[in-house]
Amino acid sequence: MNTVIVYYSHSNNTRTAAELLGSNLNVKVVELKEVKKGNVIQALLRRCSKLQDDPWKEIEEAKLVYLMYPIWAGHSVPAMNAFVSSPKAKFQGKEVIIVTFMASPEESSSSKAQDHISNFVRKSGGVVRSTYAIQGGSMNVFIGDEKIKERMDKVRWDEL
Ligand SMILES: Cc1cc2nc3c(=O)[nH]c(=O)nc-3n(C[C@H](O)[C@H](O)[C@H](O)COP(=O)(O)O)c2cc1C
Repeated sequence: MNTVIVYYSHSNNTRTAAELLGSNLNVKVVELKEVKKGNVIQALLRRCSKLQDDPWKEIEEAKLVYLMYPIWAGHSVPAMNAFVSSPKAKFQGKEVIIVTFMASPEESSSSKAQDHISNFVRKSGGVVRSTYAIQGGSMNVFIGDEKIKERMDKVRWDEL
């Protein structure tokens, strides 16, 4: 299956996990880069930041897309909001797996932020196959390669 991983990361936890998953699955990994860095107020208000380049082109051929991003103030990050809400985001015929990272060990802390992104995927015709919430670091803390690997290994990936 043609799979692409799309991620946003501020302090490297999600980046490390995305790159690890990408090398395990041997698939393309695409980082969402912003023109100007998004902030927590935008996250709270469910706003978008402006993205560099054309990340949407990278998923054109994909059948399965992983969306990986951290939780900010209980919400999804502005870069991922921008990615899924753009008219260029065409999820028709694609399945999506959402993986969030957060400081909290409580999976439910990610629900709102996962639902928000899931709704955009469904609106543009995609199917959300599954969602996972993984504990990353405290605010601005990178927990290190080993801990990320441990936490990724612990996840029961239904689809791998
Ligand atoms: C501005 C900001 C707000 C955050 N808000 C939350 C929050 O509401 N709940 C939570 O569990 N973690 C929160 N965190 C922690 C991040 O979700 C966590 O550090 C995550 O691992 C960051 O991933 P990253 O290293 O890929 O950026 C916040 C972090 C930042 C920078």
